[in-house]
Amino acid sequence: MTQRTLVLLKPDAVRRGLIGEIIGRVESKAGWTIRALELRHLDRPTLEQHYAEHQGRPFYEPLVEFMASGPSVALVVEGERVIEGMRALSGPTDPIAAAPGSIRGDFGTIVRENLIHASDSEESAERELKTFFPDFV
Ligand code: PPS
Repeated sequence: MTQRTLVLLKPDAVRRGLIGEIIGRVESKAGWTIRALELRHLDRPTLEQHYAEHQGRPFYEPLVEFMASGPSVALVVEGERVIEGMRALSGPTDPIAAAPGSIRGDFGTIVRENLIHASDSEESAERELKTFFPDFV
């Protein structure tokens, strides 16, 4: 089942010089391909649209502020079961609960600064790819 997913390397990953390390892990998965990639300082309107479903939750404002605090890397990754696979590679939201070997498990400690976003379902992937790469999909 070939799929496409939207991946964001968050501002903490960029600040800490982890772009190459994380992209290397994505590229090393058999059959997965990076179809688009851009270093991009995300603006508030884009982030408000992206995180709309979480508006009103206590973490919403700090999350949007953090995501606007510096450049991110936005990617389109394509491949076999890549939506589920990228979530597994990333690890759970709280890095302390993430297993070693996952990106958050190996590099994270703080929930807000959890390094990476990956679409959580086919519906989210379709919506998020349209938001971040409207000319590509
Ligand atoms: S839920 O309840 O399952 O919908 O929430 P979850 O998928 O875990 O989180 C939704 C996004 O909010 C981020 N998040 C947080 N950011 C900052 N601080 C806190 N405490 C926090 N809790 C959750 C989480 O990383 C998700 O964003 P993405 O970009 O998908 O990682």
